[in-house]
Parts: sequence; C-alpha cells; structure tokens
Amino acid sequence: MSKRALITGITGQDGSYLAEYLLALGYEVHGIVRRVALEDPERRFTRIAHLLDRIRLHGASLESYPSIFNVVSRHQFDECYHLAAQSFVAESFQDGFSTMNININGTHYVLAALKELQPTCHLYFAGSSEMFGKVTETPQHETTPFHPRSPYGISKVAGFQLTRNYREAFGMYCVSGILFNHESPRRGFEFVTRKITSTVARIKAGVASELRLGNLEAKRDWGHAKDYVRAMHSMLQQPQADDYVIATGQSHSVREFCEAAFGVAGLDYQEYVKIDEFFYRPAEIDLLVGDASRARELLGWKPSYTFNGLVEEMVNADIEALAAAGPRPNVTHARLT
Ligand code: GDD
Repeated sequence: MSKRALITGITGQDGSYLAEYLLALGYEVHGIVRRVALEDPERRFTRIAHLLDRIRLHGASLESYPSIFNVVSRHQFDECYHLAAQSFVAESFQDGFSTMNININGTHYVLAALKELQPTCHLYFAGSSEMFGKVTETPQHETTPFHPRSPYGISKVAGFQLTRNYREAFGMYCVSGILFNHESPRRGFEFVTRKITSTVARIKAGVASELRLGNLEAKRDWGHAKDYVRAMHSMLQQPQADDYVIATGQSHSVREFCEAAFGVAGLDYQEYVKIDEFFYRPAEIDLLVGDASRARELLGWKPSYTFNGLVEEMVNADIEALAAAGPRPNVTHARLT
C-alpha cells in the first residue's frame, strides 16, 4: 500500500521538490492550492507543470477553516507537510496583519482539522531560522532562544509553538523543521539569491545594466532546497516526533553571493551592484548559521550541494531560461518589496 501525503504550498519551491521526492518514493501526492491558482494554471503552476498528471490538487485557502477541513475530510492522509505561508520577510513589514493571519491562523486550521479528523496523521510544520532573529549564540541549534525580528519571524515562532503544543497536549505526531535559507533555480524572484542570479543573466544578455540591492553585509546559511525536502520527509519517519535544525553550517554574506554569481558569468559584481536604501529592512538579521548535528546524528541527513555548486546551478539555469524564453519584464526591480 502506498502512503498518501498532503502538501500545502505545493506550487512553491519546496512543495514542488517535495512532491517530486515523494512521487519517486511511491507516495500518492495531494496538494492544496488556492482557487485563484486553479484559474491561472499556466502562471501559478510553473514549478509543478511536469507533475500535474501524477498529483491531485484540491482548492482551499489558509484563510478558511472550512475549506481546509473539507480537504482533510475527503481522504485519509499518512503525512501532511504544511509549507504554505506568506514567506517573504520584507513583505511582512509592509503588511504584518495578513502575514500573521495566514501564517498563524492557517497553521492552526491545519492542526485543528487534523486533530478533529485524522489525529494519527504525521504533520510537518515549516519553521524557520528567522525565529532565531537577533541571535544570542552562533551557530544556532534547536535550543537557541528565539528573538524574531519581523512579523514573519514572529508568525513562525507562533506556528512552531502551536505545533509543539498539539504534540504535547494531544499526543499528535507534529514536528517543526527549523530550516535555514534554502535556494534553487525554482526560488521566487523576490528573494535575494534569485534576484541576483536572474539579474546576472539579464546583464550577461545585455538587457539589464545594474543590480540594486539593500544590505550586502547580511550573512545567511544558504543550502539547496532539494537537500532540505529530504530532511522534511525523514523527520516524519522517526519513532518520536521532534524538531530539527536543517542547515549547511556555513554562512556567506550577500556580497559574497554577488561575487560568486557574477563570477560564474565572468563578470565583476562591483561594476553592476548599486546600493539602494529602499531594500534595507526596518530590523535586520545580521548573521544566521545553523548547527545541524542533531539531524545528522538522528536522521542521517547531510547536505549534498556546496555553496559554489548552488550558485553555479542557479546562474546557469537563469542564463539558459533567458536564452530559451527571451527577455521578460524585470519584476525584481519593481518597488514592491
Ligand atoms: N530580498 C532581498 N532583496 N533581500 C536583500 C536585498 C534585496 O534587494 N538586499 C539585501 N538583502 C538581504 C536581506 O536584508 C536579508 O538580510 C538577506 O538579503 C536575505 O534576504 P531574503 O533572500 O529575502 O531571505 P530571508 O533571509 O529574509 O528569508 C528567507 O529565509 C528564511 C529562512 O531563514 C525566506 O525564505 C524565509 O521565508 C525563510 O524562512
């Protein structure tokens, strides 16, 4: 009997890699998508277009408990991966209210529906290194205190605590992965890595002449999303439900990412990168670097990509995509962040 999994956020970077991974393991994969996405499949389903004939999609919204309840009532799921969220930190400063509503209530709805209908289903909650925020120790591990620096970070702390509370109060198998930044050619254009690699491709092709960024000195622990979805799955296969940090253990500054990405295209970042105050955040996290030794020992997990391998893959994918599709409107410079 194959296992059945439900993924919220299946159209995103992590959801698409996770769906591929679970399908390869023989799972029956279901996903929750917003109705608006069903009406605009060509644009909204780009990351899962190649999987559409092998997965089952259900229309529901994280803003509506009845819609989540309805999906959970239709099938018996062995595992549920709750990845959907408003995940852009900068946007959470613009509209903290909708970030809180979606990320906190949405998580609560998923937990409550499972408790009501399928309390034995194993649940994964997408926690974040943003929960550590203004860090009190380096590297950060599972016991490092939280000090979130944005409405997004606060919403993830609330989701983490809700998940733990359902585990402790109701005996459910609920875990949080505390994932550090993870990137890939499927990363959204608003995040700094993809903004950099897509603009490098545009500069190389002669359709852009500069890259406007905020704080170049912020340091992040960047891994590859493909590696990180393996860890999510592994967390749900353990005898005991528990929370794990997933990270590479190495951090690099945004400046170093620029240097590496422009370097892949044979360019010098200093000629193209311009500092723009607009992209600074009201409260920044200066340094994140994770200690994933617990995941290594108990899950046997370790990353397979290096930092340079990740950057190279992203830049080359963007160069190839641009050559295949031709130039598109430059969304990364739209003043929406
Ligand atoms: N997005 C963006 N755009 N970030 C910039 C820019 C810019 O123009 N210039 C500098 N940065 C800096 C940000 O200030 C931040 O310090 C860093 O680049 C990384 O920003 P993002 O790529 O937007 O990611 P994030 O670290 O804020 O959050 C991501 O990782 C978290 C895990 O730690 C997101 O994926 C979150 O959803 C995730 O939880």
